[in-house]
Amino acid sequence: MTRNPQLNKHGELQHLITLEGLSREILAAIFDTAEPFAEVAEREIKKVPLLRGKSVFNLFFENSTRTRTTFEIAAKRLSADVINLNISTSSASKGESLLDTVDNLAAMQADMFVVRHASSGAPYLIAQHLAATGRDHIHIVNAGDGRHAHPTQGLLDMYTIRHYKKDFTRLTVAVVGDLLHSRVARSQIHALQALGVPEVRVIGPRTLLPTGVVEMGGRGSLRVFHDMREGLKGVDVVMMLRLQNERMAGALLPSPQEYFKYYGLTPEKLALAKPDAIVMHPGPMNRGIEIDSAVADGAHSVILPQVTFGIAVRMAVMSMLAGN
Ligand code: NCD
Repeated sequence: MTRNPQLNKHGELQHLITLEGLSREILAAIFDTAEPFAEVAEREIKKVPLLRGKSVFNLFFENSTRTRTTFEIAAKRLSADVINLNISTSSASKGESLLDTVDNLAAMQADMFVVRHASSGAPYLIAQHLAATGRDHIHIVNAGDGRHAHPTQGLLDMYTIRHYKKDFTRLTVAVVGDLLHSRVARSQIHALQALGVPEVRVIGPRTLLPTGVVEMGGRGSLRVFHDMREGLKGVDVVMMLRLQNERMAGALLPSPQEYFKYYGLTPEKLALAKPDAIVMHPGPMNRGIEIDSAVADGAHSVILPQVTFGIAVRMAVMSMLAGN
C-alpha cells in the first residue's frame, strides 16, 4: 500500500484509519451522507437496508462504551449483521496473534472490521495484511488505536460543530487538556485544519502537550497556551479531553485537584469564551477533574448530542465504505 493507504485507486475511501490527508471534500461528503441518517433516527422505524446481508465484526481489544455501542447501533440501523467480539474472553487471551484472529474472522466471510486496539497502527497492520493476502474487499474502520487516531470521533465532533456553528472558516476552536496521550485530539486537529478553521488553539500543561505541531496532528500553525484563561478568550468551541491516566507513565501531574484548578473547565473559565460557545467532550468524562458538572450539564454543553450524532456519522462511514 502506498501513500494514502485508505483510499482505493479511484481516490475513494476503502478503509477509515485516520483523518490525516483527507480532503475537505471527502469530509463534507461524509457529513452530507450523515444528515439523512440523523433524520431517519427521528422516525419510528429507524432501519435502512444499505448493509443488508453484510457482516460487520466489532473487534474491541480495548474497553469502550459509547464507541462500541454506537457502532453496533449504526450497523444495525443499516441492516447489517453485527458480531461483537469480547476480546477479553476470546482466543486473544489464550495467546492467539492479532493477525491469526483476523484470518479466522475473515474466513467467516466478514465484510467489515471495526477495530479498537491499544497499539497505534493495529488497524493499519490489519488492512495491510488483508491487502497482501488478496482480501482487501474487507473494510477496516479504526475505532481508536493507541495514541494515534480516532477518526470517527473526530468526524462526529466536526459534524456537531457544523450543526451548531455552520461555517468552519470563521471559528476559533480550543482543544484542552491531555493532548499528549489523546488519539481524539490528533483526529480533531487534522479535521479542523482540513475544514479551514482559521484558529486552532491547544491548551494544556507543558507535561501533557506534545512538543511539535506535527506531533499534535497539525499542519500550519496551532496556537499553544499553557494558561487556560488566556487560551479560552473569545473561542467559539471548547473541546475538552479526558485525562488519560492509563497511558501515563510516571507522574506528569501534581494531583487531580491541582489539574482541576488550572485546567478544569468551570463556569468561571468558560465565561471567557464567546457567549454562545459550545462545550464538547468525547467521553468518558472525569467530572471534577477536567470538567465541572455545572459545565458538563449546563446550557453550553453539547456532549450528549455528540453521542447521538455519532450514530449517524458512523452509519455514513460504514455505508460509504461498503459502496466503494
Ligand atoms: C475516547 C477514546 O477512547 O479514545 N473515548 C471515546 O471513544 N468516546 C476518549 C477517551 O477515552 O478519553
